[in-house]
Amino acid sequence: MNAVITGASKGIGKAIAEKLAQEGFNVVICARSADALAAAKAAIQQQNPAVTVMAEPVDMGDKAQVLAFAKKIKSTFSSIDILVNNAGIFIPGSIHQEADGLLEKLMAVNVYSAYHLTRELMPLMIQQRNGHIFNMCSTASHSAYPNGGSYGITKHALLGFSKNLRKELVPYNIRVTSVSPGPTLTASWEGFEAPPDRMMPPEDIANIIWAAFSLAKQTVVEEILLRPMLGDI
Ligand SMILES: NC(=O)c1ccc[n+]([C@@H]2O[C@H](COP(=O)([O-])OP(=O)(O)OC[C@H]3O[C@@H](n4cnc5c(N)ncnc54)[C@H](OP(=O)(O)O)[C@@H]3O)[C@@H](O)[C@H]2O)c1
Repeated sequence: MNAVITGASKGIGKAIAEKLAQEGFNVVICARSADALAAAKAAIQQQNPAVTVMAEPVDMGDKAQVLAFAKKIKSTFSSIDILVNNAGIFIPGSIHQEADGLLEKLMAVNVYSAYHLTRELMPLMIQQRNGHIFNMCSTASHSAYPNGGSYGITKHALLGFSKNLRKELVPYNIRVTSVSPGPTLTASWEGFEAPPDRMMPPEDIANIIWAAFSLAKQTVVEEILLRPMLGDI
């Protein structure tokens, strides 16, 4: 069984890659920073010597790099069982004040990345008549909040992408799940002062993804929305 997880050198993506490797999946991970990626690969491989860990430095905001990444995955693995479109960046802002070009940048990393990689890997899943695609949305996909700015726009768009994909892939037996976490303790929050117990551990996002995958094949968890007990920060 093979899984592709984007943006997996740290945070939620790394937790998902670790969980899937523990469950016996070969994992493909990517990120921009080659050093952090190599460290993540080494850690996952050491904990799970029986699985293959492929790690590729990719800027998921660059379409040409996404297409080359997809090509490499397809030349290495003959099937894809799980695709997690997780790569994303969080830059708070307000639409009237944020820097010019931020929307374009966030659309490329948070939305077009998932669109292009999914389009490249989908034919294989369609041929298999099997597969599970997870799209890492956010509570910001469901409602606006102060300083959401372009990030909120992109996460709404990703949820739209995910819902359309779900409908489109019904005839091919491919499951699609939108995952919408609230505050989760990762580097995304660096510099932001908040008590750690007001945030969810990234391992919980990995565990809920595994739970959704593990259900009967005819069951599709279409949407997962998670928040810390005390709500958003
Ligand atoms: N943490 C939260 O509270 C929270 C809540 C809701 C949703 N989310 C979503 O969950 C996802 C993961 O967030 P996180 O908090 O785990 O972030 P994180 O700790 O900052 O990790 C992000 C990962 O994505 C990679 N990445 C970033 N930009 C990339 C790009 N252009 N191309 C390839 N890889 C890239 C990073 O590596 P490099 O920087 O080296 O590229 C890193 O491996 C995001 O989509 C985020 O919007 C997070």
